[in-house]
Amino acid sequence: MKNIQIPLSQKCQKSYNTADEHHSPGKGFGVILWHRTKIAHNMLNKIIADTLPYLPKKLVWMFSKKYVAGEHIEEGISISRELNRQGMLVTVDLLGEFITNLDEARKNKEEYRTIIQRFSDDNIRGNFSVKPTSFGLLIDPEECYRLTREVVDMAARRKSFVRIDMEDSQCTRLEIDLFKRLLTEYPHNVGLVLQAYLKRTRADIEELADFAEKKGCPLNIRLCKGIYVEPEEIAWRDFHQVRHHYLKDLELLFQRNAYVGIATHDSFLVSEAQSIIHEQHRSNDSYEFQMLYGVTPSLRDSIVTAGHSMRIYVPFGKDWFGYCSRRLKENPKMVYDILKAIFIRG
Ligand code: FDA
Repeated sequence: MKNIQIPLSQKCQKSYNTADEHHSPGKGFGVILWHRTKIAHNMLNKIIADTLPYLPKKLVWMFSKKYVAGEHIEEGISISRELNRQGMLVTVDLLGEFITNLDEARKNKEEYRTIIQRFSDDNIRGNFSVKPTSFGLLIDPEECYRLTREVVDMAARRKSFVRIDMEDSQCTRLEIDLFKRLLTEYPHNVGLVLQAYLKRTRADIEELADFAEKKGCPLNIRLCKGIYVEPEEIAWRDFHQVRHHYLKDLELLFQRNAYVGIATHDSFLVSEAQSIIHEQHRSNDSYEFQMLYGVTPSLRDSIVTAGHSMRIYVPFGKDWFGYCSRRLKENPKMVYDILKAIFIRG
């Protein structure tokens, strides 16, 4: 699959701090040291991210395998089976999102149909995540609808479910409209992602909840912070503001009777979400937690142990390199995974 190369600096940076916020500094000398360390970390991260395309793929794979199931469907199935065995559900994603023509979109659609068939034949407990741009959303939205519909139709026949991932803001309205169209036809087999960092999201929740209510369809939304760099006019960029809106959106989704996929590795949000669930007596079948494969496994396990449903986003496919570059840009801590991969073999 051919991908248009998007410069990492444009596409993959997150617009707010991540890990650093969880380790607030103390005062005085500690603050200076903390800031200097932070700057050094960021510089190192940037250097490694910039040199990533020139590193041998084999080397990059050594750190990437923690976050990607593999290149082939068998590896995706095997990892998913293991996660099922550990009591978790999965959502499977075929890596590769930016395409240049509709032939590639049709090829992706076929690949998804094969995936759905194979995963359901193997009785994997899970569903499927798709990125509409990989079905040609930005080339021909109507053809994208037809291709996505074929995938959702196949999932529906197998009593499964397709989640439409949310991409950058040029896609938001298109993806909401695509979802609404498919929801009308497949009320139990399609869901959408909304991003708490977008200022429009509250209004989108209301619009979708009104729509679902009118059509008599259940509403199934994955709520995440949002991963793309978006301008200040349309997105909250401050870390605490994003958290604040995440929780407000979560409450609104519950209020509007949506099933919510609480997609975050932020321990603060996880804990606040658990409080909301507890205080509002939300039943187990009205939400699930979701995390990316390989990320914060101890937090993930603690959520499972507490009795909540957990779904893991399992990416696989030949385009693992692009995916891992984005993960690296997102979290400076992963630089050390690369360094470890360089120095420790095996
Ligand atoms: P935050 O970024 O604060 O992370 C909290 C902690 O988790 C960090 O301190 C770090 O330790 C760890 N961490 C987070 N991300 C990590 C990573 N990649 N690697 C290693 N450690 C990491 N976005 C989007 O725009 N559209 C979408 O459709 C989706 N879909 C989606 C599905 C699922 C299941 C998840 C979990 C996430 C998404 N996202 C997404 C990504 C989401 O928007 C967001 O960028 C990431 O989840 C990171 O935000 P957190 O809420 O985890 O907080």
